[in-house]
Amino acid sequence: MLKNNGKKIGRNDPCPCGSGKKYKKCCMNKETPAPVNYKNLYADKYNIRLKSQKDIEQIRVCGKLVVETLDLVEAAIEPGVTTDELNTLAHDFAVKNGATPAPLNYRGFPKSICTSVNEVICHGIPGELELKDGDIVNVDVTHNLNGYYADANKTFFVGEPGPEAKKIVSVAAQSLKASLEMLKPGNHIGDIGWAIQRYAEGEGCSVVREFVGHGVGFEFHEPPQVPHYGKRGKGIMLVPNMVFTVEPMINLGKADLFIADDNWTAITADRKLSAQFEQTFVITEDGFESLTPFEL
Ligand code: MF3
Ligand code: CO
Ligand code: CO
Repeated sequence: MLKNNGKKIGRNDPCPCGSGKKYKKCCMNKETPAPVNYKNLYADKYNIRLKSQKDIEQIRVCGKLVVETLDLVEAAIEPGVTTDELNTLAHDFAVKNGATPAPLNYRGFPKSICTSVNEVICHGIPGELELKDGDIVNVDVTHNLNGYYADANKTFFVGEPGPEAKKIVSVAAQSLKASLEMLKPGNHIGDIGWAIQRYAEGEGCSVVREFVGHGVGFEFHEPPQVPHYGKRGKGIMLVPNMVFTVEPMINLGKADLFIADDNWTAITADRKLSAQFEQTFVITEDGFESLTPFEL
């Protein structure tokens, strides 16, 4: 019996082959059922747009530019630099390479990258703030190149890190790394969050609930949502050519947060440190590829 996502397909359900007909009028009684057409099935059922090999190539090219932007910004990070200077560097580099920074004017966001310092979890707005020795700063870059989006972020040290900075940046990086073994067809979205939560909480840290990974490529944010906590085997099944981010935000203290008066900046309620790493991934036939690759 054909199954999908662990559930039996009903006689009156849409046929998984993607024909648009009812299952009973299509593949139900065929000796060899047609192979599941995930492109149509995932579009109809979840509003998830699977990517073609051409799409993936374009997202990969954009992803390369995103990682180069992160490298460029990293090289400029030192005590005394303002987050607005980092924004200008990233913005000019994107434009010079034919890309548009996706955050700029996205739902009213006023800058081209997000810069989130210390207790800021995410969506920090670049400005006059000067980085100082011992800070940590997350830089989140999303570009649109030739109509395709790629999204990645990293947390950097400013000068010499103290023990708490070292701890949270390491746990955040290794949380993303812990998710990688889950990225293969047949696993489920819940497995990703489960692996992250198990690792991060095992290190005595907490996982932010309010912000999630997301489909990406044709738009900045597409379905599905990818929570960084969860249960094994729950949620949508991963299939080849799904493109989405994983971007766990990990707090040294409690998971609770508040949003600042600028309506963007997310800050830990206990004002303890938070760090994050993000990459854009494509599910392949036997695992995954990072389209914004960097070492973790
Ligand atoms: N890049 C962020 C993400 O990983 C989203 C930033 S939205 C913005 O999804 F408007 F703040 F840029
Ligand atoms: Co993202
Ligand atoms: Co991002």
